Amino acid sequence: MKTIIEPFRIKSVEPIRMTTRAEREAKLKAAHYNLFGLASGDVLIDLLTDSGTGAMSAEQWAAVMRGDESYAGSPSFTRFEAAVQNLMPFKHIIPTHQGRAAEAILFGIMGGKGRNIPSNTHFDTTRGNIEASGALAYDLVIEEGKDSQSLHPFKGNMDVDKLEAFLVEHGDSVPCVMLTITNNAGGGQPVSLENIRAVAALAKTYGRPFIIDGCRFAENAYFIKQREPGQAGREIADIVRDCFTVADGMTMSAKKDAFANIGGWLALNDDDLAEAARVLLIQTEGFVTYGGLAGRDLEAIAQGLTEIIDDDYLRYRIGTNQYIIDRLDAMGVPVVKPAGGHAVFIDAKAWLPHIDPLEYPAQALANRLYEIGGIRGVEIGSLMFGRQPDGSEKPAAMELVRLAIPRRTYTQSHADYMIEAFEQLAAEKDSLRGLKLVKEARLMRHFTCQLQPL
Ligand code: F0G
Repeated sequence: MKTIIEPFRIKSVEPIRMTTRAEREAKLKAAHYNLFGLASGDVLIDLLTDSGTGAMSAEQWAAVMRGDESYAGSPSFTRFEAAVQNLMPFKHIIPTHQGRAAEAILFGIMGGKGRNIPSNTHFDTTRGNIEASGALAYDLVIEEGKDSQSLHPFKGNMDVDKLEAFLVEHGDSVPCVMLTITNNAGGGQPVSLENIRAVAALAKTYGRPFIIDGCRFAENAYFIKQREPGQAGREIADIVRDCFTVADGMTMSAKKDAFANIGGWLALNDDDLAEAARVLLIQTEGFVTYGGLAGRDLEAIAQGLTEIIDDDYLRYRIGTNQYIIDRLDAMGVPVVKPAGGHAVFIDAKAWLPHIDPLEYPAQALANRLYEIGGIRGVEIGSLMFGRQPDGSEKPAAMELVRLAIPRRTYTQSHADYMIEAFEQLAAEKDSLRGLKLVKEARLMRHFTCQLQPL
């Protein structure tokens, strides 16, 4: 059978309020042409992020009721710790309120002025936490990972030659080697098991701890199963264990591949590093058996981790992205290929060549997609990255619109509706105009800036 069916049925629903195009045009104008300024009730299909927006299962909601809110030694922590260690066999599991809190603690102990930290591509908050500590962040993804049309099966891979040269050049100033799976900022592209092992071996040779940012570990494992020679018949859980047994630690946002609305953790093998991390945890998040979470959140994560490694779920998850990308590709919409794990990326620079990068073509595209279909995506281009530390403005490397797909939340007909909205967009795209900024904050301007159509 070729139809992708959702491998679940629906027990509880959230109505979507239908709106007209005229209404949406007025809402967008009132939000100063910034999609972050919209009330979510005015959005029909919200693809701003896949983080914390997934649907929890009946078993997760049941587990929430079991949550034990004891300050110290809660059985919910014990269940959470066991569920994490079942897949990621690290010695110390330190719960945090979300991924960036784990990063802040990690770089609180490993970062600092003069330190240099490589990854395939650091996610914004990872880079932000590294830089806030005074250290520098470097992206060493393979060249194919920067080419939106390359069909390399593992475009998230680290360039191991570059990594080795980096380790030789920077020597003792490298506190750890990181790897993000999947590579979110690079289009949700996976990293092969072979590459994970090669990075681990290099880190070991040079005596550096190897830390995985594992936010989308299950999607990554599914790609390994699909695409890597010799992995086809294996259990997802076994592939996941293989990825993490070669690492010395991990950071995690449970808002992604743990099906939770909030949560995260930092895991480490080294006793001294873990002790230092727990001191910071108590200072900033909470006691060691709850971190920044309620007992019920720990329960939801523990249950979510047993559900995310399901082949049927992952086939539907990746299959939906592939379906959307194939349809858009056939229509001539330039999409980042092959399909990534959690999102569909559209190359606005290629599709709207008549709009200058500093007139934000990806924002113009995302805005029109909202007006046409009530679909909210996010610009990842010059609006997000253009402002330089010296105050000048420079075009970003790519002008992308990311449509991040929340887990278990939308159905096949929502996907078809999105594709239909793109048919309309294709008919209107030549009339699209760029935007100019009328107000912006000093840092991370894309969240709050105000824009005007040119
Ligand atoms: N690492 C990666 C690869 C991420 O994608 C994110 C979050 C984080 C770390 C931080 O985790 O949000 O729990 O603090 N990504 C979200 C996104 C926000 O929309 O891509 P967090």
